[in-house]
Amino acid sequence: MSSYDVIVIGAGPGGYVSAIRCAQLGMKVAVVEGRETLGGTCLNVGCIPSKALLHATHMLHEAEHNFADMGLKGKAPSVDWKQMLSYKENVVGQNTGGIEFLFKKNKIDWIKGWATIPAVGKVQVGDDTYDAKNIIIASGSEASVLPGIEVDEKTVVTSTGALTLNKVPTSLVVIGAGVIGLELGSVYARLGAEVTVIEYLDAITPGMDAEIARQFQKMLTKQGLKFKLGAAVQGVEVKNNKATVSYQLRKDESDHTITADAVLVATGRKPFTTGLGLDALGVELSERGQIKTDANYATNVPGIYAIGDTIAGPMLAHKAEDEGMAVAEGIAGQKPHVNYGVIPGVIYTHPEVSNVGETEETLKAAGRAYKVGKFPFLGNARAKANFAGDGFVKLLVDAQTDRILGAHIIGPMAGDLIHEICVAMEFGAAAEDIARTCHAHPTYSEAVREAALACGDGAIHV
Ligand code: NAI
Repeated sequence: MSSYDVIVIGAGPGGYVSAIRCAQLGMKVAVVEGRETLGGTCLNVGCIPSKALLHATHMLHEAEHNFADMGLKGKAPSVDWKQMLSYKENVVGQNTGGIEFLFKKNKIDWIKGWATIPAVGKVQVGDDTYDAKNIIIASGSEASVLPGIEVDEKTVVTSTGALTLNKVPTSLVVIGAGVIGLELGSVYARLGAEVTVIEYLDAITPGMDAEIARQFQKMLTKQGLKFKLGAAVQGVEVKNNKATVSYQLRKDESDHTITADAVLVATGRKPFTTGLGLDALGVELSERGQIKTDANYATNVPGIYAIGDTIAGPMLAHKAEDEGMAVAEGIAGQKPHVNYGVIPGVIYTHPEVSNVGETEETLKAAGRAYKVGKFPFLGNARAKANFAGDGFVKLLVDAQTDRILGAHIIGPMAGDLIHEICVAMEFGAAAEDIARTCHAHPTYSEAVREAALACGDGAIHV
């Protein structure tokens, strides 16, 4: 029987990063993973494959809409869906293979199979039982499907099935205007599907700064997505490969139906802890099924830790990675810290949407005095040259101290631009610190600087 300092359960971004950090800190580590390849949901059926499809369809959009204006003449490319899927699989393969390489490099054992924790200090996989001084649960999440809906991953799909549809549907209904629904909805809209998004709330992307959400909805509508807001989905019926979604409008309780070739259920995710044996061990869960942990990611059972989507907080790969490193460092006796006030969020549509920290709504609710500095990409030379002038940067700063409290970007490379502001926030910077930092011209990042200038004496290019 093998014994380890640490056994990590799950090889997603939380688990594999944690395992690598444990190995770097001198621990003997194994990771239990039941999928055929490493990388978890994110690399296999989430972040990475969806980004490949978002990229390919954005290229198509550019060819259809902007090439001729740039003097690039000729017919726009036609879509070879099989090839697009194989490009996506190839990207996934490169990334999952990369993790396998990193495991070898760091001498991490991959135990193939699904883990159970039969007792404190033990991990069982199939007929084998391993000793572990510490166990880190990083088993991720699964789609949370509404009652009354049966997913077959062909006609009624979660994000997993949406990445492998056997053809581009003529019509697609997306249930839920959250991150998954809008990213994948916009992929299929660009491929020519008629996409209708049904959302329970009266606005898209709950929790997002409301001004940005409104602008985002306008842009997506311009791209052809249709929205039915304030609509509660009640069920989906499949007949002859067509799905009929029934929903009720909340304002007048009227009942409606819509029929489509495919339905994407994107109504959130829930922790995936099935089969781990947490009940028998007495590991405490919240009412939402999240594993309860203390500030060191320790559960109530000694030697068992949990991170990522299995615990509270945003279900984001990078949040899981940070927790993965922190839990490893904590086990090694260090004093790590994850700053939950500075975790960026990105929606990888075109344009991208990103955020960090407070929104105007959270600041108002807390009764805090704040200032807003905004700058539109239309005033940014690089964005104009690249047909990317839609959107803006919005900084929220403390009215007295000018300290940055939050930022929201909708526009080109928003997912990259946000990190300048994250670093500034980590250093407790004021908007003036960004405003006085020289930014190369012409770059999109000048829009961030201009928004910072707008918090003071004013932006230059508006
Ligand atoms: P979500 O929580 O972002 O959005 C779900 C939406 O479904 C909400 O707007 C909700 O109001 C709506 N909804 C719930 N019940 C409904 C009903 N009966 N009828 C109509 N609408 C209903 O969840 P999503 O998009 O499924 O994503 C799951 C998780 O994965 C999220 O935590 C997200 O952060 C993460 N994720 C992050 C990505 C990124 O960072 N780019 C990409 C993909 C997923």
